[in-house]
Amino acid sequence: MPIYNYAAGPATLPKEVLKTVQAELLDYHHSGMSILEISHRSALFDDIINQAQSRLLKLMHLGSDFTVLFLQGGGSLQFTMVPLNLAGRYHRVAYANTGHWSERAIEEAKRIPNLQVDQVTDAGPEFATIPPVPSLTEQYDYLHITTNNTIFGTAYHQLPQTDCPLVADASSNFLAEAYPFDQFDLLYAGAQKNLAPAGLTIVVVKKSCLHPSDLPTMLNYEALAKKNSLLNTPPVFQIYVANLVLRWLEQQGGVEAMEELNKKKANLIYDFLDGSKLFHNDVDPAARSLVNIPFKTNSKGLDQEFIQAAADHGLLNLKGHRLVGGMRASLYNAMPYAGAVALRDFMAEFEAAHL
Ligand SMILES: Cc1ncc(COP(=O)(O)O)c(C=O)c1O
Repeated sequence: MPIYNYAAGPATLPKEVLKTVQAELLDYHHSGMSILEISHRSALFDDIINQAQSRLLKLMHLGSDFTVLFLQGGGSLQFTMVPLNLAGRYHRVAYANTGHWSERAIEEAKRIPNLQVDQVTDAGPEFATIPPVPSLTEQYDYLHITTNNTIFGTAYHQLPQTDCPLVADASSNFLAEAYPFDQFDLLYAGAQKNLAPAGLTIVVVKKSCLHPSDLPTMLNYEALAKKNSLLNTPPVFQIYVANLVLRWLEQQGGVEAMEELNKKKANLIYDFLDGSKLFHNDVDPAARSLVNIPFKTNSKGLDQEFIQAAADHGLLNLKGHRLVGGMRASLYNAMPYAGAVALRDFMAEFEAAHL
């Protein structure tokens, strides 16, 4: 029985990549050492981090005016690092609130002394849509958006047009949707959904946003960039896996091809849900996420039964986030089309047995 893992993160990784990791684990490139043992100051690792950086920029069609930081602390530490580093001019920042993770970003920004944090959109208590960002009348150091809302299953499919720098938490649809990446001044993502095991955070930033400051060194983008993310010991294994996943992404045809496949997988599920008499998804169709699909029946007991029955069929981790309940299927880049088909077929079977 094939097993599919629909977890929201840490999430499924490409099988091909896992096989490469397995094959190389005891002896990395004839060095006689495991990747788990090599120094971050070695030529072997220099090659890995440099390849990962250039692959990322190429996949995002970005030039040398951008750089990539390989950090730790998760998306959550970026909630703090972004305002610390970018809010120096107007001391006023704008946040679009489209769900729990936007709220967490807002809460952390509010902890920065002398910073005015304005919430410029309100998606309503259900967070079932992506409201347009109004034209901003104040001068802001940046506008922060969450490109994909992991819990509520919404996403921006068109970026807001704004005169101030655009910053995004792209944790859950990083390299899964082909945005015009040059419109972002800074983009960050925890790696554990689309790129690598947990423990690595990617920050892609326009070099013009970097400037020397008195910030603590480990929180200082400019200082980290100057040292190629090697101010201290980076997560070597995670960066190695990220580089393999990026190579795999290139082989799949890049971010554009991934988006096509992700649309195909998501549409399979949404089409089924829209025709279902048992299950429903309550998100504004124009704002539906390509990668996180929440759905429910009208009975908590039946939801529970579905989650258990699916797990018994090898369809794992379909339990919804505690804030919304029900079910959630996460169909990130590494989820094969067959994984979406297996889920759709099982939902149809379950529905036929319970109507
Ligand atoms: C959109 C989004 N932002 C931030 C986070 C927090 O990420 P981390 O656990 O890497 O701090 C998550 C976690 O699921 C997320 O989905």
